[in-house]
Amino acid sequence: MGLMIEEQIRQRATEIEAIIDSYLPEIEGYQKTVIDAMHYTIKAGGKRLRPMLMQETFRLFGGEGKVIEPFMAAIEMIHTYSLIHDDLPALDNDDYRRGRKTAHVVYGEDMAILAGDALLNYAFETASKAFDMDYDSQKVGKAFQVLSRKPGIHGMIGGQVADVLWTGDRINMEQLLFIHRLKTSALIECSMMIGAILAGATKEQVQIVEKIGENIGIAFQIQDDVLDVISTTEELGKPVGSDEEQGKVTYVALKGLEESQKDVELYTMEAIGRLDSLPYENTFLRELLLYLIHRNK
Ligand code: IPE
Ligand code: IPE
Ligand code: MG
Ligand code: MG
Ligand code: MG
Repeated sequence: MGLMIEEQIRQRATEIEAIIDSYLPEIEGYQKTVIDAMHYTIKAGGKRLRPMLMQETFRLFGGEGKVIEPFMAAIEMIHTYSLIHDDLPALDNDDYRRGRKTAHVVYGEDMAILAGDALLNYAFETASKAFDMDYDSQKVGKAFQVLSRKPGIHGMIGGQVADVLWTGDRINMEQLLFIHRLKTSALIECSMMIGAILAGATKEQVQIVEKIGENIGIAFQIQDDVLDVISTTEELGKPVGSDEEQGKVTYVALKGLEESQKDVELYTMEAIGRLDSLPYENTFLRELLLYLIHRNK
């Protein structure tokens, strides 16, 4: 069963990559260098978890058709921009990402900043193409609203701000969970909510999905903190030990490895409970969430 799910994940990631590819700008013009940097980081690989969760939540609520695709590409663009900026010398100062030298190492800091900006903006340009599709424009509008809010100052960026501000400080669990909820859960909530909204889920169901995304995001970031301690650069494709080097308080620093891994499971099981409370079923989505508990990259 373990292998089956891994194979299914790989297959879906490949399909998702083709969708992302189809929405990327051509590498041409005087902006060529920056567009090349956009391609460089987004095509380096990565788990494609956010578009996958979006698509599977869309399927969970019976969604059909291509309207989800520009949003899938958009969320991966936003996620990739957040990684390029996260790695900058002014933030986490990391030289590897997705198994390659980071964008700022290859293209320079100036171009990396601009490539991040460009990906963020292009995400909205891309998602807005859904308005040209033959689909309920009210649903598209709602999805667009979520896409603009969750990555913002009250979501992902807000979490990055707290993460950076408190680097070197002895923060407590409440502050750490604030960081995790914003910097990581927000984009996962965003992904799953857009899938639900476009598929026509009710307001109450979208709220349940938001909570599922919150729990999965916290579990995901705890595991990210764990892997920063126990994994290797080869396996992760990014530097390990980076958190400690930067003086960041992580979940592992506060609770220890064993408790952290237990909590990954607890948060995930809370999400699974909520998923099971919905009158719909998506076996792959359920297995994917369970698989993530023991992910090693
Ligand atoms: C890394 O996200 C940043 C975090 C929020 C922990 P992923 O672990 O999903 O990175 P990729 O997309 O697979 O490279
Ligand atoms: C980053 O958290 C979350 C983002 C919004 C990019 P981390 O700084 O822990 O992510 P990694 O470990 O560099 O991928
Ligand atoms: Mg960071
Ligand atoms: Mg980082
Ligand atoms: Mg990390």
